[in-house]
Amino acid sequence: MKVVVVGSGIAGLTAALHAHERGHAVTVVTKGRLGDGCTGLAQGGVAGIYGPDDSMQQHADDTIEAGAGLSDPEAVRVLVEDGASRIAELIARGVAFDRTPSGRLQLGREAAHSHPRIVHAGGDATGAAITAALVAAVRDTSITVVEHALLTDLILAGGAARGVRLLIGTAHAALPADAVILATGGAGHLYAHTTNPAGTTGDGIAAALRAGAAVADLEFVQFHPTILATGPAFLISEAVRGEGATLLDDAGRRFAFDSHPDGELAPRDVVSRAIARQAASQDAPVRLDATMLGAERLAARFPTIDRVTRERGFDWSRDPIPVTPAAHYLMGGVVTDLDGRTTIPGLFAVGEVARTGVHGANRLASNSLLEGAVFGARAASALDLPWRAIALETPPPAGRAPEDVDTAPTAFTRTALQELMWAEVGLLRTGDGLARALRILQGWAASGPAPTTPAEHEDANLLLLARATASAALARTASVGAHHRVDAVAREDLPSTGTLPPILETV
Ligand code: SIN
Repeated sequence: MKVVVVGSGIAGLTAALHAHERGHAVTVVTKGRLGDGCTGLAQGGVAGIYGPDDSMQQHADDTIEAGAGLSDPEAVRVLVEDGASRIAELIARGVAFDRTPSGRLQLGREAAHSHPRIVHAGGDATGAAITAALVAAVRDTSITVVEHALLTDLILAGGAARGVRLLIGTAHAALPADAVILATGGAGHLYAHTTNPAGTTGDGIAAALRAGAAVADLEFVQFHPTILATGPAFLISEAVRGEGATLLDDAGRRFAFDSHPDGELAPRDVVSRAIARQAASQDAPVRLDATMLGAERLAARFPTIDRVTRERGFDWSRDPIPVTPAAHYLMGGVVTDLDGRTTIPGLFAVGEVARTGVHGANRLASNSLLEGAVFGARAASALDLPWRAIALETPPPAGRAPEDVDTAPTAFTRTALQELMWAEVGLLRTGDGLARALRILQGWAASGPAPTTPAEHEDANLLLLARATASAALARTASVGAHHRVDAVAREDLPSTGTLPPILETV
């Protein structure tokens, strides 16, 4: 079968390698160079190796707890059951995860994990090590690679995905296929502040929406709590807090315990909101204090963070460093079953572009590389099986996005959209703010010309996703997980665990 994989992070490369190994003719299409994207930047690791007191069940429980009870338990079961094989596969493909002096895998702990169960490589360079190994593995095969190609749309025939349309520089191209696997990542550039590299503009989700695929949970955007508060966004791994670093207010007090009994190791959404509120009340960034870990340990365990913070003028072994939250990960995306199938026959989605149900309302740290590997492999296995339609458990929401339009205070630019999303569809949301944002976004959408250049296509994708995200956030009137409505914090109207939340079909 001819298979096109769009995207070259851990999910896409795993899917491509497995599909190739199963005898399919695979083409990987990627927007930058092979391996560019979020995976390569990942400092956190891969969760899924269990010490003597730990188990798959406890990992599953932590995942569901972090997801505020909205994870699909079946998807979580698949994640933890397949995890060890995928970590073993990464090792076999050459990823040198860090080991103890006796040669066992070194297990780290991150927020909201009840046990140390995360493997890292190069201390805080896990994603780079995984990317290097998978890119080398792909280069070693006959898989065709098309670089610097932007996905503009899916090709549909008889309601099924039959290839992709691409923009390569100024040239349009069509790549026919029997199956398409989307692995295009998330949409961090919806926001003014993000850990995601340039180019993370939600192209795959937008193409799926335009094709009529079901998309859900876009309101669940994870904001990482600790980004260095000066210069270009640079993430300070949660593993630093896992090793014992603390968060301090301007009086030197550990304020995180005011919000949650687990303090700095509470789920990410809780810590991010605590930081945002504290920073607003003191009108200055809060500080991350890692000084107790000492210069030698910091340099050995976190070589990348150590180097970059020093380049930026900080000595984190002596002084606490200023940190602030930024958009990091999208829990929602294209709705899939346990094998990556979407609601469009022939179209699969894996990794951050997908809504597998694993993450619920908030992703547990170091579950994303794991999810990419697990579901990338599963989608490749499903290529050989007859297509099975996904049963959606709940119908599309009654209330569609309001079509009211506000004359925007400024003309559309990507920066204006990102600032609007940060202000009104960010960490702390209100119904009025969301409705206002949506009206402005509708106004921009109504007046925009059809995109021609790659940057204009990205802008159109961001605008489509911004509308879908604001609309989903407006529709979910209770706070849950990463979706925090300061005007309505009651939880009584939440769907019960495991039910599929509202589906967006098109916006
Ligand atoms: C981190 O190292 O804090 C990020 C890990 C993740 O996003 O899972």
